[in-house]
Amino acid sequence: MQENEGISEMTTTRTPLIAGNWKMNGTVAESVALTRAVDDGAPGGCELLICPPAVLIPPVAAALKGGNVAVGGQDCHFAGSGAHTGDIAAVMLAEAGCGYVILGHSERRADHGETDELVRSKTEAAHAAGLIAIVCVGETLAERDGGETLARIGSQLEGSLPAAITAANTVIAYEPVWAIGTGRTASAADVAEVHTHIRGDIERRFGADLAGGIRILYGGSMKPSNAAELLAIDGVDGGLIGGASLKAEDFLAIAASCP
Ligand code: 13P
Repeated sequence: MQENEGISEMTTTRTPLIAGNWKMNGTVAESVALTRAVDDGAPGGCELLICPPAVLIPPVAAALKGGNVAVGGQDCHFAGSGAHTGDIAAVMLAEAGCGYVILGHSERRADHGETDELVRSKTEAAHAAGLIAIVCVGETLAERDGGETLARIGSQLEGSLPAAITAANTVIAYEPVWAIGTGRTASAADVAEVHTHIRGDIERRFGADLAGGIRILYGGSMKPSNAAELLAIDGVDGGLIGGASLKAEDFLAIAASCP
């Protein structure tokens, strides 16, 4: 390797990850049908992940034939057990068949007041339970309009990522808050700028090897019609998909768009 070789030139082995965040949607019957359709149609060349509501994790996990599709939670508590009514421990997700958990989604940050510090402690709990944490960051429209996007993302990463992450146990998801569920997507140039900034931040804090290996997803109104363009951006290693993950046809079309 050249001494001055940067992360963008490094040979990477980052398998694209197409993750469906079902949010608070689905009955048992719908979930099983959707899971089977995704499982049956899963293309090669990328990893697929389904993150259903917690109570639907067991039927979703049971419906999978054990191939190319993983299951994840949408949140976990930072403690391993105890008096935390309504919460779910990371180890419970693992036991239910999860390999991943989404943490610090902007809807949890907004609806439940989750701070970067809390997201960091949840990420540590996820890692201790053997789960891969998908840590979400993203700016609001006011922050973007105020020219604060990169600073905001930098501070979220700084606060939300524990010191001991690895490229194998952590995925970053860049989700501009204003693009979630709105039909608006960030431009390719904006996504490229933020992803490059995130990987640079990771390199400064964790080193070039980790930065070259960690997957950084884009999320926010990704759909079959824009997936190919977004997934082709240098440094975009997959997508975190909300609405379009609720239709097998759309989710699979996005997966098939992986370069
Ligand atoms: P949409 O794809 O519905 O915009 O949601 C994105 C998201 O929040 C995924 O976590």
